Order: sequence, then structure tokens, then C-alpha cells
Amino acid sequence: MGEVYKNDFVEGFVANHNHGSVSYTSVDDGHVHQCLDVSSPPMPSQDGSSHIHYTEGYVLFDDGHNHYYKAYSSPAISVGNGMHVHYYDFYTTENDGHKHRVKGVDQPMPGTK
Ligand SMILES: [Fe+2]
Ligand SMILES: [Fe+2]
Repeated sequence: MGEVYKNDFVEGFVANHNHGSVSYTSVDDGHVHQCLDVSSPPMPSQDGSSHIHYTEGYVLFDDGHNHYYKAYSSPAISVGNGMHVHYYDFYTTENDGHKHRVKGVDQPMPGTK
């Protein structure tokens, strides 16, 4: 395939890629945490027709504590122009007597499935 640049159209599956994302947790106990994430490389989805990503890490420290998370993404969601994103919906660990929910999509990367 050669080099793939940010704006190239790529049909199908790109084996080696990961996704960054910038999001915030839900508001719980009167505060939010920023969530800066870089996913793992792709792995096959359950039915083999797409791929998913695993991710784990800490949300950013705020209000005197932080939280850990481990999550799997949705299969690839084609967003046009040969790019795809993934949807996330997970809960952090409980710390300081509460947990947070994180929902959203990550940054687009090349490939359509
Ligand atoms: Fe918190
Ligand atoms: Fe992906």
C-alpha cells in the first residue's frame, strides 16, 4: 500500500493503526475528569467483519483523585472519505466514593471497516 497520509482514501481494513481521543467524563460528585486516550492496535470484532480496539488508562487527576478504566470500542464506523471512528461507552473504577461514565467517539483514522 505504501505510505498512507491523513487525507488519503483507504478502502477496507488498515492493519496497524490506533486512535487518539480527547473527551470528558460525566459529572459525578460535582466534578469531571479529562480523558486523554490512545487506543491499542486493532483486533478482530466478534463476527470478524470489522475490528475493535482495547484501551486502558487513568483519567486526569482532578478534585484530589483519579480513576482507572479498561474498555473495548465498538466496531469501526465508516464516516466517509475512507475514514472510520469507534464509539466508546464505559465506566471508570470507583474512587473517592463514586465513578464516572465516558461516552463518545475517537479521532478518525484511515480504513472503512
Ligand atoms: Fe471523580
Ligand atoms: Fe480503528
